[in-house]
Amino acid sequence: MKTILVTGGCGYIGSHTIVDLIEHGFHVISIDDNSCSTDIALIGIEKITGKKIKNYKVDLKDYNDTRAVFQENENIIGIIHFAAYKAVGESVEKPLSYYENNIFGLINLLKCVEEFKVPHFVFSSSCTVYGNPDFIPVTENSPIKEAESPYGATKQMGERIIKDFSFVVKNTSCILLRYFNPVGAHPSSFIGELPIGKPMNLVPAITQTAIGKLPKMFVHGNDYDTRDGSCVRDYIHVCDIANAHTLGLQYLIQQKNTSRCDVFNLGTGNGVTVLEAIKTFEKVSGVKLNYEIGNRRAGDVVAIYANNELAIEKLNWKIKYNLDTMMKTAWDWELRLKAEDDLLKQQSLLN
Ligand code: WQD
Repeated sequence: MKTILVTGGCGYIGSHTIVDLIEHGFHVISIDDNSCSTDIALIGIEKITGKKIKNYKVDLKDYNDTRAVFQENENIIGIIHFAAYKAVGESVEKPLSYYENNIFGLINLLKCVEEFKVPHFVFSSSCTVYGNPDFIPVTENSPIKEAESPYGATKQMGERIIKDFSFVVKNTSCILLRYFNPVGAHPSSFIGELPIGKPMNLVPAITQTAIGKLPKMFVHGNDYDTRDGSCVRDYIHVCDIANAHTLGLQYLIQQKNTSRCDVFNLGTGNGVTVLEAIKTFEKVSGVKLNYEIGNRRAGDVVAIYANNELAIEKLNWKIKYNLDTMMKTAWDWELRLKAEDDLLKQQSLLN
C-alpha cells in the first residue's frame, strides 16, 4: 500500500497532519523517538480517525535504525519531515544539540530518500529563516537574513541542503513549508500541544497559566517598536497548517517535473501582538490571565507576518480558523488535560 512517512508523528504538528492525511485517504506511518513527545498523540489520532498508526521509535541521528524503517516499508511514496527541536529561546542556550539533531537527522533521512527513491519530500521549515525582516509581510522571495537564533539557522541550512539535494537527485520533488506560529488544537480536543516541562511557546504558556499549572507568565518585553510594544507574530491554527501539508503533498504528486523545490509561506497574513493574543484568550476563555511584563527574550524577532498568497493560489489552501478559535481550541485542550489529570488523581486515591 502507498505509504506516507511522517517524522515527528507524535509531535504537535505531526499528529495533526497525520489526522489530515488519513482524512484525505493516505496510509501513514511515523518515526518519532519521543525525545520531545509521547505516544499519547497516537491514542488521540486513533480516537479521531479510527486508525492505529505504527510509530518507529527511532532517532534520525542513527542512520542504520533510520534506514531499517525504509527496508521494512518499501512503498513509501512521500515523506513529511517534522522531527526537529523547535524552541527559539532554548536553541540560543543549547546551539550544538540543535545543530546536531536538526541537521544530522535531515541528512540521514535524505540519504534514505536517495537510496530508496522516495519521490516526494515535504520539509517543515519556519518563518524564522527570514530573521528580522526589513519589510513585512514577508513573501517567499523576501531576503533570507542572518537567523536570530540557532533554531532559525538550522532551518536556513535545512532549506539549502534540500535545494542542493533536489538539484542532483532527479527523481525526488521537494517542497519547503515556512510556518509562522502554529497554535491551537484539534476541535475534538483529542490531540493538541503537549510541551514537555515548562512551556517556551506563548500559547501553552498562556493556557497553563490560566489553568493554574503555572503561577504566572511573563510577556517578554513591551518596549519594542510595535503598536503596543510587544512582539508581532502571525498565529495560525495547527489544523490549517496540517491541511497545507496534505495539499503540499498532493501538489507534488500532481506535478510532472520531479526535480523541483518549491517554497510556501504558511501564515494567515495577520500580525498579532503578544498583548493582543492575551486579550483574545481572556475574551474567549473568560479567564483573567496573571502575567507581568518581563525582559526581552534573546533570539526574538520584533515583528513578522506572512504574505500567504502563493500557498493560497498554488496549493488551493483555504484558511478555516480565526484567532478566537485558535485560543478557544487551545483552552479546550488544556481543560481536557486537567480533567484527565484530575481523573487519574481520583483513581490513584481510590486504589
Ligand atoms: C511568540 C512571542 C515571545 C512565551 C515559534 C516556534 C518556532 C517557529 C516560529 C515554526 C514572542 C512571546 C512567548 C512567553 C512571551 N514556528 N512569549 N512569553 O519564538 O515566534 O517561534 O514560531 O517553526 O518553531 O517556536 O514563538 O510562541 O515562543 O513566542 O512573551 O512565555 O511570544 O517572546 O514574542 P516564536 P513563541
